[in-house]
Amino acid sequence: MKPKTIIEPFKIKSVEPIRFTTRDEREKLLKDAGYNPFKLHADDVLIDLLTDSGTSAMSAKQWAGVMEGDESYAGSKSFYKFESAVNKVTHMKYIIPTHQGRAAEKILFSIVGGPGKYFPNNTHFDTTRANIEFSGSVAEDILTEVGMHPEERADFKGNMDIGKLKAFIKEKGAKNIPLCMLTVTNNSGGGQPVSMQNIRDVKEVCKKYSIPLFLDACRFAENAYFIKKREPGYENKSALEIAQEMFSYADGATMSAKKDALVNIGGFLAMNDEQLAMQCRNLLIVTEGFPTYGGLSGRDLEAVAQGLEEVVDEHYLEYRIKSVEYLGNKLIDAGVPIIEPPGGHAIYIDAKRFLPDIPPERYPGQSIVCELYMEGGIRAVEIGSVMFGKYDENGKLIPAMMELVRMAIPRRVYTQSHVDYLIEIVLEVYNNRIKLKDYEITYEAPMLRHFTAEFKPIA
Ligand code: F0G
Repeated sequence: MKPKTIIEPFKIKSVEPIRFTTRDEREKLLKDAGYNPFKLHADDVLIDLLTDSGTSAMSAKQWAGVMEGDESYAGSKSFYKFESAVNKVTHMKYIIPTHQGRAAEKILFSIVGGPGKYFPNNTHFDTTRANIEFSGSVAEDILTEVGMHPEERADFKGNMDIGKLKAFIKEKGAKNIPLCMLTVTNNSGGGQPVSMQNIRDVKEVCKKYSIPLFLDACRFAENAYFIKKREPGYENKSALEIAQEMFSYADGATMSAKKDALVNIGGFLAMNDEQLAMQCRNLLIVTEGFPTYGGLSGRDLEAVAQGLEEVVDEHYLEYRIKSVEYLGNKLIDAGVPIIEPPGGHAIYIDAKRFLPDIPPERYPGQSIVCELYMEGGIRAVEIGSVMFGKYDENGKLIPAMMELVRMAIPRRVYTQSHVDYLIEIVLEVYNNRIKLKDYEITYEAPMLRHFTAEFKPIA
């Protein structure tokens, strides 16, 4: 028999205590942080679900790799190990290390971006959008219709809308679209996967117009596992083979290794175009470092190389996807509105349905985020009009498409009892939702305002 209980596929060798606080203490701490959990001291957080990025627990083998790190400035053996590990998954010719995902984006869009250019994606992550816009280009989200409806279940809600992509290319002109991106899994759209068929279809359209296709590959292994479980024809392929096929349709990739390479820092750019790679390396030398370390130490490169081996292990991926699903299903069963089905790295509460009486300009997502912290010391993040809202020329808020609260699950960090505690807190907040307050912004920066904004609850 195959046991029904899925266990953590590891035992714990080193532990990190977490600090308990009282509700009174947390109310004060949050007020002092301007009601923005980004500004809390992490030590004042009990369960930190702010991000799954850079928060993974490394394995004993990764830590062993850290000791093996070759810190030579040029041509270190750790680089070649890293390059070969990235090549094994992506089969790309040119692999350029960067200190994290946005550094790869910054380099790429500094070269291919600029005024008058357009970049389609299923949904741009906020740093991708910011790097594109910073270069003077336009970032366009072209998500499949079903992906915009949190309550509708579908297997691949991260897919790009092929019809809209074709129309977009015709409207803007292929020569003004230096590349097209697919974010796997689609973080800002709920951690939802993109199907192999969709990757193939997007590639076909791009090929027709000679537009290169790039993957934003942060969570490629989670995406591969969803394909294995949900897409006919892939059930008997390994996660690694599926990932390799995903990359085979792409001309390049940006990657934040802080997600599916199971490390605390790192990233890379990968591509097949020699000319573009040369330009990227030249810029890399100015901003990140020599092309064989790119802003990382040799030990970091070792940890990435080992992490890329471990992340495609199917016992790991089964535990990973099932534990997020466990959390999601318990919330759904209790009536809490979330994006369905549960995503790969996070559960996204649908704040519009959770707090239907708080309008977007009073930030319902922020209200839930604040209450989760005050109630149970849980740190989550708003992904809605705080993060993506814009103003029209009269200063009126143009709300985001969705009002979400993301609870991202760090990899290999929390156990099932942490998750059970989390469920209890979310249900408590949900059952008392009538008491949650509206919020207004009292301070904001001109870009990426969610990191530093300050808020005030209004009665
Ligand atoms: N692309 C996606 C899809 C991401 O989720 C992230 C980061 C990046 C690019 C940028 O990578 O942080 O290494 O510079 N996402 C984190 C998150 C921050 O919390 O979702 P980075």
